Amino acid sequence: MSATVYLETFGCQMNVADSERAAVRLRAAGFDLEDSPENADVIIFNTCSVRERAAHKVFTRIGEVRRQRLINEPVVGVMGCVAQLEGTSLFDSSPLVNLIAGTRATDRLPHLIGRALDGENRIVDLDERAEGEKWDLPATARTSKYVAFVPIIEGCNKFCTYCIVPYSRGREKSRPASEIVAEIKELRDYGYREIHLIGQNVNSYRPRTEAGLEDFKGATPFCRLLRAVAATEMERIKFTTSFPRDFHPDIVAAIDEYDNLCEWIHLPVQSGSDRVLRMMRRGHTASDYLKRIEAIKNARRRIAITSDIIVGFPGETDADFRDTMRLVEQVGYDGLYIFKYSERPGTPAAKLDDDVSREEKTARFLELEQAQRRHQEKIYGRYIDREIKVLIERPSSKSEADMTGHSTCHKVVNFPAPLALLGEIARVRVTQAKPNSLYGEILSAP
Ligand code: 5AD
Ligand code: SF4
Repeated sequence: MSATVYLETFGCQMNVADSERAAVRLRAAGFDLEDSPENADVIIFNTCSVRERAAHKVFTRIGEVRRQRLINEPVVGVMGCVAQLEGTSLFDSSPLVNLIAGTRATDRLPHLIGRALDGENRIVDLDERAEGEKWDLPATARTSKYVAFVPIIEGCNKFCTYCIVPYSRGREKSRPASEIVAEIKELRDYGYREIHLIGQNVNSYRPRTEAGLEDFKGATPFCRLLRAVAATEMERIKFTTSFPRDFHPDIVAAIDEYDNLCEWIHLPVQSGSDRVLRMMRRGHTASDYLKRIEAIKNARRRIAITSDIIVGFPGETDADFRDTMRLVEQVGYDGLYIFKYSERPGTPAAKLDDDVSREEKTARFLELEQAQRRHQEKIYGRYIDREIKVLIERPSSKSEADMTGHSTCHKVVNFPAPLALLGEIARVRVTQAKPNSLYGEILSAP
């Protein structure tokens, strides 16, 4: 009988994509994937270390699994960012761990697990990807049947002072455009309706050659890639995450040209204060950012804008925080991810004196959250009676009669529909606006 593996994923879309890739490589090597940790021979945690609690969660989970399984001891492995950063010290923090695979060891995972199953202990692989390693994932092997994440660039060269990503995922590496386009065509032919181009900073996409992009215009390689991907006629195309300094207005022009480039842009600002932005080494001011927003707001269709904000960065004064509140008001975000600053060891910001108390961080977090709730209520309210197109992705977890999916503007939308419509794109009339989702009724579906 072949060994069974349970793979649990924490953190961002990059990790989700990496886990899919790990699952494909494991199945190809003859392993069976399990849905729960109870009976698996091998348990792998794909970890995230961008924020404090994300890393902490993994240790809690390892403890929980350990308590669940007193008799049969599985092979426990940690992969991803925490593995890359902590290395062998993980063996000391958790005696159950006997395999550590860094952020670029995904394709070697079957081999590493094989060694562990042969009885080897304390296995570590923190190496770079092998030369010529392909990023492709067959359409047949993905988790969702309708929405696929397609990595176009990994790593980050920005070194924002608070961020661990350049250390955990290394320098930027772009994937060849011809490979990306071929994968998307395969996904389209297989029946996928939506793809997300993903990367820590998609705007700095810069492949080694122009192969696959020659026929497409665009101010940056990413703009050319967007047009090349749009030309595949994949029905819905979204992309995250954009970085303000590299966000060229030509991206908006491309969205204007192609209806299948969806009307949603995630453009994290982090702070509305120039002083804090400087300390974060973001390389843009609030007014540079607002110029980008202006370009997005002048698009042919209304483009939904979402963002990330860190409150309580070391040295952030109340006046700085007021600048952030003002910027948020000015932009009118469709959604906001708010984080309290948390120190990441080894980053430049960790050397700063963090003089914003925990209480102050929490107070700013709550104030911003409440303001955003008010803005969002207005923005979501404007959708009432409007018609939107929703990809039906799964049954709603809240109501048996309802299905759930995302609109082209990336809102969560729930509505009554039969299971048979899974994977279809429906025209939905919005009847209610909830704080973080819309509710509606189907007008038509195929
Ligand atoms: N503390 C708090 N939030 C952080 N982020 C990244 N690093 C930190 C940190 N040290 C947030 C940023 C980023 C998002 C993915 O996580 O807002 O955009
Ligand atoms: Fe981190 Fe900045 Fe890179 Fe985003 S752009 S991953 S915040 S260093």
